[in-house]
Amino acid sequence: MIFGRVKPIDAILATAEKKSLHRSLGALQLTLFGIGCVIGTGIFVLTSAGAQKAGPGLMLAFAIAGAICIVAALCYAEIAAMMPVAGSAYTYTYSVMGEILAWSVGWALVLEYAVAASAVSVGWSGYFSGTILNEFLGIQLPAYLAAGPLALGGAPGGLINLPAVVIALLVTWLLMIGTTESARVNAVLVAIKVTALTAFIILTLPQAEMDKFNPFLPAGVFGGLGSGIGAVGAAATTFFAYVGFDAVSTAAEETRDPQKNVPIGLIGSLLICTIFYILVAAGAIGTIGGQPIMGPNGIPFPAGSAELARQCALPEYAGMLVCSNEALAHVLREIGFSGIGNMLGIAAFVALPSVILILLFGQTRIFFVMSRDGLLPEGLSKIHPKWKTPYVVTAITGSVVAFAAAFLPVGQLADIANAGTLYAFFMVALAVMLLRKSEPNRTRPFRTPALWLIGPLTMAGCVFLFLNLPLEAMLVLPGWAAVGFVIYFAYGYRKSHLGQGRVEVHEGELEPAAPIHD
Ligand code: ALA
Repeated sequence: MIFGRVKPIDAILATAEKKSLHRSLGALQLTLFGIGCVIGTGIFVLTSAGAQKAGPGLMLAFAIAGAICIVAALCYAEIAAMMPVAGSAYTYTYSVMGEILAWSVGWALVLEYAVAASAVSVGWSGYFSGTILNEFLGIQLPAYLAAGPLALGGAPGGLINLPAVVIALLVTWLLMIGTTESARVNAVLVAIKVTALTAFIILTLPQAEMDKFNPFLPAGVFGGLGSGIGAVGAAATTFFAYVGFDAVSTAAEETRDPQKNVPIGLIGSLLICTIFYILVAAGAIGTIGGQPIMGPNGIPFPAGSAELARQCALPEYAGMLVCSNEALAHVLREIGFSGIGNMLGIAAFVALPSVILILLFGQTRIFFVMSRDGLLPEGLSKIHPKWKTPYVVTAITGSVVAFAAAFLPVGQLADIANAGTLYAFFMVALAVMLLRKSEPNRTRPFRTPALWLIGPLTMAGCVFLFLNLPLEAMLVLPGWAAVGFVIYFAYGYRKSHLGQGRVEVHEGELEPAAPIHD
């Protein structure tokens, strides 16, 4: 019975105990860590795509996505504090719903982490080409090297996104040789990002004009199932701006008084980001306007589509928010703050690689745990004798991330990443509720308040956002799952350590994903 392969929680907890990390983190460190993981391409770049989907309704979109992430975060916090081990949602599912569903979650997390790393690489590329090459060095990267070719996105004439490939490979190399980010570096990068966004808000909001927000919902609230437009369509995309907060839950084991500090860290970082995102959207739209470019049928052209790229090439549309690859720097330049716009561009250039690093790191650790469980070849989890990193899996993952970044546009990558993430969040909420029933007496350093409300709300929110993704992104999830199941039945099902009756307790886990130690 494949559903019978449930990993005993005791084995997982024994692994966690062997690790026995020092509980040193407080609420402030967790909040800073959360902000470091979360603020990235979602706000710096996808603001354009969000405006093309919803117009000024983008502000509502950030609020909807933020609210769903906050309830999901509350569920994550309970199970993460209870099972503080590597593998995140994959490990939780293994212990509650069994191997095959755990496999499906681990496989979906590839979309969350690896595809998201590709998306952030492409986002970084926009700032690199626009601010560093163009503004500072006066170099115009040829169109065929600046964007991928796929007609679903890509600027006209795109062939390969070279800067995105280079940054993805560079970060992969850093991870292979054992680079982790220290708490101090994280704090500096958080300060840079927060300063950039604060400066943006201070410079734009006083100049905002009410009529720029009219019509507020040019594509409505619901654009229609699978259309990816309207305020909820934009919420499904801007959900990406919050991806990464689950890393905070993985730091639960190192937190002092987790019952108090984990929810403060999670909710605090998400709330701060939500407020920033709404104000930034208001500043951008209130100054240069954020109405979508409408197609002949009165419906916005799909964000990232070839049609939109053609419209944006016309001189009358060139300055629009929805056409920019470096949305926030572009807004500041348009309203006469070119120098500060360029500084914001540098902030994105400096800070986004750390988001790529955190995401890629998370991916390699999930593959590592899956391979250690026998579901992926064991060669993948080989540790380098000198660097002490899982270099094989890091190199393979990084190459795939670079490949996807080379050819796909940022909006589509973010939507695909969101599809996988929403599935994982859904399963985590389910696991937390099942575990309350099956193991009511286990110690829970943090209990989700009103779980029987928050859990179903999380699940409903995930389904709701998923159904409002563009159809192509929605279809990627079942397609990806089908490939995953073929691999599982061809390999993992037979090789699974648990399937062979081996229940293992591991010593010496790898370093935690969190850049929280000096
Ligand atoms: N939330 C992260 C970003 O927006 C992934 O870049």
